[in-house]
Amino acid sequence: MTVALEVVSVTAGYGDNPIVQDFSASLQAGSITTLIGGNGAGKSTLLRAIYGTNRFFSGRIVFEGESIERLPPWQRLKRGVGFVPQGRCNFPAMSVGENLKMGCYTLPAAAHEAAIGRVTGLFPILQQRWRIDAGNLSGGEQQILEMAMVLLVEPKLLLLDEPSLGLSPKMQGDVFTTVQRIAAGGVTVLIVEQNVRGALLISDRALVMEQGRKFMEGPAEEVRTDPRIRQAYLGGNIHQAA
Ligand SMILES: Nc1ncnc2c1ncn2[C@@H]1O[C@H](COP(=O)(O)OP(=O)(O)OP(=O)(O)O)[C@@H](O)[C@H]1O
Ligand SMILES: [Mg+2]
Repeated sequence: MTVALEVVSVTAGYGDNPIVQDFSASLQAGSITTLIGGNGAGKSTLLRAIYGTNRFFSGRIVFEGESIERLPPWQRLKRGVGFVPQGRCNFPAMSVGENLKMGCYTLPAAAHEAAIGRVTGLFPILQQRWRIDAGNLSGGEQQILEMAMVLLVEPKLLLLDEPSLGLSPKMQGDVFTTVQRIAAGGVTVLIVEQNVRGALLISDRALVMEQGRKFMEGPAEEVRTDPRIRQAYLGGNIHQAA
């Protein structure tokens, strides 16, 4: 097995305030890892640290054997780190087609058409909605568009922050199926999800963060059945079937 991403004793946050502290994790290539933690635990902060959009205090981030923690985000993207942040991150007053063209901005012009063809093949709904303003799509369609905008550049590591937030149970299922398909294509996925149960069911491993520090890690199945995790993140009743 090949390690795709190694997070080594990372401390990161904002201004003078370290939020994530001494956090380490190792992600196998092509695996799906769920990052679990309560509100404000520092999950988004860790994803931003891996992509490079907040203050990095110390530690190392090793992607495919090379330290990337001092690189600007665009260089991490060029190396294959893709990030879909929490909340809406499309251009709402631009059409689906225009959003996809914007997502191609780091690719050579000659590659745009093929890249767009590839993601619309993966998500045919985007072809159907091509002329519609992104802001008028349903929440689930917008989420798919936002994933597609990152997939245009064929990332090898995909950081997903709350992709199913605000979606119906059916659309949440569709997002999880999509993530599985992406990982089956060899992409390494690190996902933060409010639907902890759903995310664990598609994940190989899980990391649990409390107050910026690693609290637990292990195979997703083990974490899912751990009484402390069930109590805190899976609806409380430790006797309830998963
Ligand atoms: N841009 C920022 N500037 C300063 N502090 C921030 C910033 N973003 C987040 N924080 C603080 O960092 C801490 C962790 O926030 P973070 O967004 O990483 O949590 P989270 O685990 O993703 O929570 P949630 O589940 O609510 O999304 C919080 O105390 C938050 O107030
Ligand atoms: Mg968050």
